[in-house]
Amino acid sequence: MNAAVRAVVRSALFRGLEVYGVQRGYQGLLNEDLRQMDLRSVGDIIQRGGTILQTARCKEFLTPEGQQRGADVLRKHGIDGLVVIGGDGSYQGANKLSKLGIKTMGLPGTIDNDIPFTDFTIGFDTATSIVVDAINKLRDTMTSHERSSVVEVMGRHCGDIALYAGLASGAESILVPEVPFDIREISQRMRENFQNGKRHSIVIVAEGVCGGEEIARQITEHSGIEPRVTVLGHIQRGGSPTHNDRILASRLGDFAVERLEAGDSAKACGLVKGQLVTTDIDTVVSTKKAFNMDLYNLAIRLAQ
Ligand code: F6P
Repeated sequence: MNAAVRAVVRSALFRGLEVYGVQRGYQGLLNEDLRQMDLRSVGDIIQRGGTILQTARCKEFLTPEGQQRGADVLRKHGIDGLVVIGGDGSYQGANKLSKLGIKTMGLPGTIDNDIPFTDFTIGFDTATSIVVDAINKLRDTMTSHERSSVVEVMGRHCGDIALYAGLASGAESILVPEVPFDIREISQRMRENFQNGKRHSIVIVAEGVCGGEEIARQITEHSGIEPRVTVLGHIQRGGSPTHNDRILASRLGDFAVERLEAGDSAKACGLVKGQLVTTDIDTVVSTKKAFNMDLYNLAIRLAQ
């Protein structure tokens, strides 16, 4: 997110615009917590995780009164356009503001990769890399002790972190909310694999399926194997971003400012097949991102 904030600020200043940062998202907007940003205010942040603007969940902004007050605050401070970085909730808020006459532009900022009309969201590559790194480490113990591991990853209702990290780390089973599975069959395959000389077994489970502990319990019930469970949790949301995320954020941040200055509004920016695109936020928030079954089937074929 910091790379996106940096890109928006510097791109806008380059174009001769004045830029204000809203601290703590919509909560900060309602609190009128705005500060002017200059070139140096976004220095030394491109390599940092999190966001210098901080973030917050804001119940008040879910109400029509809260949204109207948000629009009033922006008008009072002479803000002509708002760039919102976030996931579904942030986009819903931007959509409401645009209907109240505020020019808005959305940037897809979430580790979940659950926003349609962009191939990837900002943060997804970093989170997935963290999961792959963790599984590399887990494999050392699992192989040495000939054990199995259940790794629970984030993603809310989306299985992309599990899918991409599972494929990249050679996990034997990838459990995601988008694809039904038979835990009995998975458990039996694990037992056969051990009997046929496999020295470890990694099961990656997306949080949208159920908890890792529950999956481990079911595996034990059906196979007698006692997997060790690792819940990676918020570790996935921190650390220095990958170069892919920094470049994605830089391109999208610059593009958002360009589109706002050109008069666009109520759009979400994305990168599709290498091309920067905008899509109506209305369409984005009412569309479910398609799950990549080709990648999923590839992971299954290769995990024998
Ligand atoms: O949407 C990003 C995400 O990290 C999800 O993967 C996860 O379910 C959720 O946020 C966790 O939210 P919180 O930090 O509020 O517990």
